[in-house]
Amino acid sequence: MGKDVIIACDFSSGRETIEFLERFGEGRPYVKIGMELFYAEGPDIVRQLKQRGHKVFLDLKLHDIPNTVGRAMKVLSGLDVDMCNVHAAGTKRMMQAALEGLTRPDGSRPLLTAVTQLTSTSQEQLNEELLVSRPMEEVVASYASLAKEAGLDGVVCSPLESPAVHEKLGEGFLTVTPGVRLAGDAAGDQQRITTPARAKALGSDYIVVGRSITAAEDPAAAYERCRQEFIG
Ligand code: C5P
Repeated sequence: MGKDVIIACDFSSGRETIEFLERFGEGRPYVKIGMELFYAEGPDIVRQLKQRGHKVFLDLKLHDIPNTVGRAMKVLSGLDVDMCNVHAAGTKRMMQAALEGLTRPDGSRPLLTAVTQLTSTSQEQLNEELLVSRPMEEVVASYASLAKEAGLDGVVCSPLESPAVHEKLGEGFLTVTPGVRLAGDAAGDQQRITTPARAKALGSDYIVVGRSITAAEDPAAAYERCRQEFIG
């Protein structure tokens, strides 16, 4: 599975997104579309970016009853996205329903990953607010196992958790890791962050980088720096 840098296009409009991507010239980076952009523009923004030649990770983090998630995934599989995801907290049955919904009649489907714990969640929040009393690493590893048992391709987790996930579930089980910052950039609301170089050393398969690229004075240069550090 090819290592890649995915840019989190957390913009509020398609126009802003396209203007941003035009700063990459002929480059066609792998992009992530999240809730803000998808809810603002609908499926058209996915079609538009695919048509321009971008790979698209549709990050909608579905979490509902299995039937609803399965039916929603069936709709998303028609959009030709390259990757989409669910919350592992929705249970193994929900993840299985997601996979079934996503699989086209010819057997093909986008990659499906599961969010274990959001990288913005601290150990204290996990214990005190969510009433999950186990250590973060244990929770992430356990949710990741459920995702693998359900047949998913990998998990979305912190780069810091990649080694444990790979050790437990094998190198072929993908880790897609947000919570990445170029050295010197502000952490913002993220709690468990690393640099792209550190994410590489930790074995991440894909890094998802938002503000370190989107808020940079020269986004194309920041993207290149991420690629250099992560892919070499
Ligand atoms: O700007 P920043 O690099 O923090 O953006 C990270 C992106 O990854 C955001 O779009 C966020 O929604 C997403 N994400 C995350 N943690 C997860 C799953 C997705 O930060 N566990």
